[in-house]
Amino acid sequence: MLEQGYTIAIDGPAAAGKGTISKAVATHFGFAHLDTGLLYRAVGRRVLQGEEAVSAAQSLTADELEPGDLRTAEIAQAASKVAVIPEVRSALLDFQRAFARRAGGAVLDGRDIGTVICPNADVKLFVTASPEVRAERRYLELAAKGTEISRDQVLADVKERDARDAERSTAPMKPADNAVLLDTSDLSIDAALARAIEIVEQNLPGA
Ligand code: DC
Repeated sequence: MLEQGYTIAIDGPAAAGKGTISKAVATHFGFAHLDTGLLYRAVGRRVLQGEEAVSAAQSLTADELEPGDLRTAEIAQAASKVAVIPEVRSALLDFQRAFARRAGGAVLDGRDIGTVICPNADVKLFVTASPEVRAERRYLELAAKGTEISRDQVLADVKERDARDAERSTAPMKPADNAVLLDTSDLSIDAALARAIEIVEQNLPGA
């Protein structure tokens, strides 16, 4: 049997920089990367199309996880809403845990990776930033894609999603007890990536 690789858990709120950091950490260490938000977004999209959330989660296929058209503001809110349902979360559990155990090593990013999905992860990071900084980043991202939305609306969406993700009773977003906190509010992208890689290097046993 192949030996299990390292697992790195990266959690945090929307637009804190988790995605960029996770991709860079995965590339740096040669690990596979799973953005677990895409699972909830794919379920959210099916619900917007009229499907029931639990059966959508139970029948989700990997080819629905292409990020392109899943990154809209509407799908983000739908994802946050389906993510409150315990049966949706449990339907997505095995896929995430199997990914985390891959032999070559894996980086998973989300909200509950260090707490629920991979409580034994080798390194846990909780990436955060102020709501205002995160909303500005998300606004610029959406504007670059031509989405017509105001800064105020993006900030309101970010705060609404934070509250729902952190206050739900099943697997709420929170740092694991042994997670290293990384606040990217005042960091450039390059500085945040360098710091994240440094934290992983310092905490990865034998890497
Ligand atoms: O990371 P994201 O913005 O793509 O996530 C979209 C929503 O999915 C988020 O608001 C809450 C939910 N989510 C979750 O509950 N648990 C995860 N591990 C990842 C995402």
